[in-house]
Amino acid sequence: MSTNTRRIRIFDSTLRDGEQSPGCSMNLADKLLVLEHLEALGVDVIEAGFAASSPGDFESVHALARAAKRATIASLARCRKSDIDRAWEAVKDALHPRLHVFIATSPLHMECKLRMSPEAVLESAVECVRYARSLCEDVEFSLEDCSRSERPFIYRVVEATIAAGATTVNLPDTVGFAMPEEYEALFRDVMENVPSARGVTLSCHCHNDLGLAVANSLAAVRGGATQVECCLNGIGERAGNASLEEIVMALKTRHAFFAADTGIDTTRIYAASKCVCSVTGQKLQANKAIVGENAFAHEAGIHQHGVLANPLTYEIMTPESIGLPRNKMVLGKHSGRHAFAQRLADLGFRLEDARIDELFAKFKDLADRKKTVSDADIEALAHNARGTDVPERLALDRFSVLASDVITPMGTVRLRMDGELVEKVGTGDGPVNACYAAIREIAGLPGARLESYNLTAVDGGMDAQCEATVKVSNNGRTHRGSGVSTDIVEASIRAYIQALNSALAENGAAPAEFDHPQRGDTGVH
Ligand code: KIV
Ligand code: ZN
Repeated sequence: MSTNTRRIRIFDSTLRDGEQSPGCSMNLADKLLVLEHLEALGVDVIEAGFAASSPGDFESVHALARAAKRATIASLARCRKSDIDRAWEAVKDALHPRLHVFIATSPLHMECKLRMSPEAVLESAVECVRYARSLCEDVEFSLEDCSRSERPFIYRVVEATIAAGATTVNLPDTVGFAMPEEYEALFRDVMENVPSARGVTLSCHCHNDLGLAVANSLAAVRGGATQVECCLNGIGERAGNASLEEIVMALKTRHAFFAADTGIDTTRIYAASKCVCSVTGQKLQANKAIVGENAFAHEAGIHQHGVLANPLTYEIMTPESIGLPRNKMVLGKHSGRHAFAQRLADLGFRLEDARIDELFAKFKDLADRKKTVSDADIEALAHNARGTDVPERLALDRFSVLASDVITPMGTVRLRMDGELVEKVGTGDGPVNACYAAIREIAGLPGARLESYNLTAVDGGMDAQCEATVKVSNNGRTHRGSGVSTDIVEASIRAYIQALNSALAENGAAPAEFDHPQRGDTGVH
């Protein structure tokens, strides 16, 4: 890093703002896996959740705080003493804990949502930051909906919360309304009008409602922000948050323009992004910048010719720089364990020997059924075989289906349930549906409802593996499952069983998916 280069801190909110987006809820094992990837990336601050929002969230923030090896772990808290106490209880065992307190400062939010006067909001912010600082050395304060707040009020709140002990002040574009020039000016204006703002970390936090979250975050960096809040794959409320990989690669690729560095090991980006896809069940659009399937693919002949002559003709960054290896050997049934283990490592999986042995057996089995095994196949195998903290009360033993367009489809499924073999027959409007009816009966979960079912080919070709992902609701909680196989019924059965195992393990905790924080909030209580 040269002397003129600023160090930009990366604050990742995949496990909080990201997890709040519809369909992105994660269980604790998922979150611990994401945490590992975030630490391998070198993220500075990890927002682990919103501890006061539910007992389940409290438990996961607490577990993540204990598991983190080097990053700062933050919990979000509304301007309420009870929220701050809960957040502190959850993060205080972290090596580097942070409390992240927020309240809205725009006229619209104060009047219609909080029903508080600006003076009451200011008083509450100061009181809560002071209280948070009495517990924790590292306190971030966010002015929610800052980009639609009035400048004189922003200055007063920023000045007063810094005086009360905030060490980081965040100026979010909560609804993705700002234009880059406006957002950059906000940071310049705050630094010019609040002298003490130069002595703390100024942070940006952008949503993508107009597709400008990354552009706005980069504009904020130009304006003086030294912390960027973002999420892997850009997941988050509504249209999402600013995408971590796009911001980091923009700062790296245009280093001379920004004169700013992050501490991110960019070669870990690809694996981290894949991990988030796997745990959330959310696929990326093929042309997603940096990590989409086509981000480094060159289809047009003229482009291919140029890239072969010199990659710089059409590539402004290399696939290797994000951890995507080029020119790999094709793996097939004659490939050995060594080549397989190397490919797993190239794809970002750091696994113990016993786990690699297990996956190698599955790979061999797959290679017998497919001519070549692609990286996507290996990733699907590795993600689907990863351990969860959910006990496997149900396991597939065997199944058969009878289906045609003239008889009612029938599925016979034999499962091991708590160690005992149980077989049932079900019918349905298709073979998968018929097997699901049989499985539901064995599991003894008549109330379990299949909320979504998705089947995709992992790779092209007639012998492609497919991946099924399902969401099942039971007692107000949502459970996700995924399964891969070259047989669509088997993949579907495995996905369903994984979701039902999670449903069977539930222990009456509060619903996993919760509302956006501070909806209907009334401030300090
Ligand atoms: O978008 C937002 O304003 C937030 C705050 C709670 C930081 O997520
Ligand atoms: Zn947000």
